[in-house]
Amino acid sequence: MYANGKVALVTGAAQGIGRAMVEELLQKGAVLALVDQNCIAGDLCKASLDEQYGSHRTLFIQCDVTDQEQLKDAFRKTVEHFGRLDILVNNAGVNNEKDWEKTIEVNLTSVIRGTYLGLEIMRKNNGGHGGVIINISSLAGLTPAAYQPVYSASKHGVIGFTRSIAALASIGNYGVRINSVCPAFVDTPLLESIEKEENMGELFKYKDRIKDMMKCYGVLDPSLIAKGMIDLIEDDASNGAVMKITTSRGIHFEEFGVQQKTKI
Ligand SMILES: NC(=O)c1ccc[n+]([C@@H]2O[C@H](COP(=O)([O-])OP(=O)(O)OC[C@H]3O[C@@H](n4cnc5c(N)ncnc54)[C@H](O)[C@@H]3O)[C@@H](O)[C@H]2O)c1
Repeated sequence: MYANGKVALVTGAAQGIGRAMVEELLQKGAVLALVDQNCIAGDLCKASLDEQYGSHRTLFIQCDVTDQEQLKDAFRKTVEHFGRLDILVNNAGVNNEKDWEKTIEVNLTSVIRGTYLGLEIMRKNNGGHGGVIINISSLAGLTPAAYQPVYSASKHGVIGFTRSIAALASIGNYGVRINSVCPAFVDTPLLESIEKEENMGELFKYKDRIKDMMKCYGVLDPSLIAKGMIDLIEDDASNGAVMKITTSRGIHFEEFGVQQKTKI
């Protein structure tokens, strides 16, 4: 699928990776709903995009993705405004080991809910036109992250859910492809959370170790994650893929090998 002329919805769109993906989608000719809980950042983001692309190309919707009604409403408003939905990026995420239940809610529960809401609109066996869903995970969703155990659990969950629902979409002929993206460290405001006790709780004492890891592995530019997202949108064969993005290897894919069959 090409993004040109398509309608997209991106959560956590006001800054960081979400914002980079929004710009890439606009450059590729899509129109889109910018969904974010931060009204000030959202308005600023839209105002600056309007100057470059025109106000008709985006719609800012203030929404806390953990609020079921607000999230439902964001999908409803998007379809009401643009007439359809073709591309969904569940990107909003937080790093909060202290309020770990919130981390699960934002990073995993809301991604699952967003995926179901997107499928309800897009899946062909429900009267939709088909589409693409991209769920943002992390390299911490594939490997243990000693100083971010709950963040890591939430991102492992995103991969497990995305691969499973992708398999179901294929079996059920949904006409919707669902993939996940796992970046290493990316240069966004999220990285500042590592230096905050209110985010890290007891793990705050390890902040320098995380900073050393950043120095060792390097930090990616958000534009590379946006490029990976476009690759997944355009690759009509990808479904259930787990894209990894690192400084050493760039964009590549996790290979899971032969699936083990569990006896039941
Ligand atoms: N920055 C990294 O190093 C990195 C690495 C791998 C994966 N990721 C993932 O990429 C995604 C984007 O992260 P980022 O680095 O751009 O973070 P960021 O903090 O820069 O931006 C996140 C955006 O999401 C919004 N948001 C947070 N909670 C929300 C909620 N409940 N409802 C609606 N919007 C909400 C914020 O307002 C913000 O605009 C996240 O899922 C994150 O886990 C980030």
